[in-house]
Amino acid sequence: MQSHEIRQRFLAFFEKRGHTIIPSASLIPENDPSVLFNTAGMQPLVPYLLGATHPSGSTRLANSQKCVRTVDIDEIGDNTHATFFEMLGNWSLGDYFKQEAIKWSFEFLTDKQEGLGLDVSRLYVTVFEGDENAPRDNEAFEIWKNYLPENRIYFMSAKSNWWSPGDNGPCGPDSEMFYDVTENGLGDMTKEDYMKADDEQKVVEIWNDVFMEYEKKDGKVIGKLAKKNVDTGSGLERVTMVVQGVNNIYDTDLLAPIVNEVKSKKKKEKSSDGRPERIIADHLRTSVFMIADGVIPSNTDRGYILRRLLRRAVRLSHSLQMESGLEELVGTVVQIYQNAYPNLISDVVRIREEIKKEEEKFRLTLERGMKEFGKIAEGKKEISGAEAFGLFSSYGFPIEITEEMADERGISVDKTGFQEEFKKHKEISAVGSEQKFKGGLADTSEISTRYHTATHLLQKALRTVLGEQVFQKGSNITAERMRFDFSYGEKMTDEQKKKAEDLVNEKIQEALPVKYEDLPIEEARKRNPIGLFGDKYGDIVRVYTIGEGDKTWSIELCGGPHVKNTSELGHFKILKEEAVSAGVRRIKAVLE
Ligand code: ALA
Repeated sequence: MQSHEIRQRFLAFFEKRGHTIIPSASLIPENDPSVLFNTAGMQPLVPYLLGATHPSGSTRLANSQKCVRTVDIDEIGDNTHATFFEMLGNWSLGDYFKQEAIKWSFEFLTDKQEGLGLDVSRLYVTVFEGDENAPRDNEAFEIWKNYLPENRIYFMSAKSNWWSPGDNGPCGPDSEMFYDVTENGLGDMTKEDYMKADDEQKVVEIWNDVFMEYEKKDGKVIGKLAKKNVDTGSGLERVTMVVQGVNNIYDTDLLAPIVNEVKSKKKKEKSSDGRPERIIADHLRTSVFMIADGVIPSNTDRGYILRRLLRRAVRLSHSLQMESGLEELVGTVVQIYQNAYPNLISDVVRIREEIKKEEEKFRLTLERGMKEFGKIAEGKKEISGAEAFGLFSSYGFPIEITEEMADERGISVDKTGFQEEFKKHKEISAVGSEQKFKGGLADTSEISTRYHTATHLLQKALRTVLGEQVFQKGSNITAERMRFDFSYGEKMTDEQKKKAEDLVNEKIQEALPVKYEDLPIEEARKRNPIGLFGDKYGDIVRVYTIGEGDKTWSIELCGGPHVKNTSELGHFKILKEEAVSAGVRRIKAVLE
């Protein structure tokens, strides 16, 4: 069965069972500034898992969501990891719970007509063993017993069987499904043997059902959500791998054509253990999807992740002496995905251009950087942090490249030292850009600073009136008015608008001080600011607090600038509240 059929079967299976099929959201999170990319299918759905009504009105959803995870970067090229993957998922928003979720997971995996027809005797599952936050999941265990022998269902601790998107958000115990990928089959196993098989990648996780009825704040489970939800995720690459009977994702039809093209273009005499080809295929595929979603190579945030992936691929293609540039591989990626993501076809020229530009830019310094590396590495056991940083700043070598080259020589790199140098450098340039920003602002009207502070007051007011599922989705400020976009599924009533407006004016009248602190991310997290959930990349963040002590009103992650006191704002008035797109509302307001 081809991967596109697996995707289609999944969606058809859940559509038949009352689910609304939603498109994949962009790789770039819309309402969550704390993560650079969506890393799970549930991420764009957080507001609805917390209780908001989904714009479709449906309580059953399913899709195939594009995801990027760079935490696994060192594992790329093994049998099961990729930086880009698709997650097949179905969700119940306070609708069905464990009974149906487990039944449908099992049926989809094993049914020959509607599902994947996988071999039941190769399936193993885990359920949550219980702890101080939630009881042992006997319910899931009993349900699984309808489908699998008892000795292939294992109780496991929170470490593996409690899922949350980070330190904050909806979460709960989960039940994971594993498939035996050995040639002869492992048969019944004790828990110890199963854990060993997992360790040795003889069984591969192919699906996770999360019973999402709890909420986490600051890393602690604080209680139950109003509704019991189900969040599931099945990695398309992995499920395709087991369906196609291969032992690694690079041999599936999602990646093999790219790997094969790399192989055919490398210089014949160059020997390789196959891993560089896999890494090139993986990084190139991820780059294509990132660029399609609007990322371009740069030295910050998302752009820098893309740059690192591309440069690593360029360096590897250089060492394999590939006969053509990376952009030549784009067509193959598009061919694989053109049915599921037709936008790639119309964007192919631009995607190729971006990749070509970055490759050409890096090739200007690559050879010289490699020579310099050779000089530095000569007779050494370790490359120092300062030397690694020198390779980065003079030749554009991301740390992975230096590490990889060091590894090839059997020497190490002081990565901590590199990060310290990097941070020092960033602080210097951040001070510079802050000054530039301040200088620029002095030329424009002070009014925009006032409006900026007003958006914080408004966001907090909306969250107070409408609920915590409200998040800023965008804002636009001119000297005349402000626009504030936020996630919310319904039109606000007149009464709600009045309440929000009154709250903002109340806080202006209270003349609250506005202060900021630059905090390490762990410290910031403790204050639970708006705009910070999930994993966060980067170390120091600016936290703006309006009000103090008992009168603390809003705590928000923000770069500023803001007024010193809310009394400077004048009178706040909402002019209009309207829909922008499904699930997003817009408020236009003025300060008088
Ligand atoms: N959100 C769950 C996961 O990513 C399904 O594993």
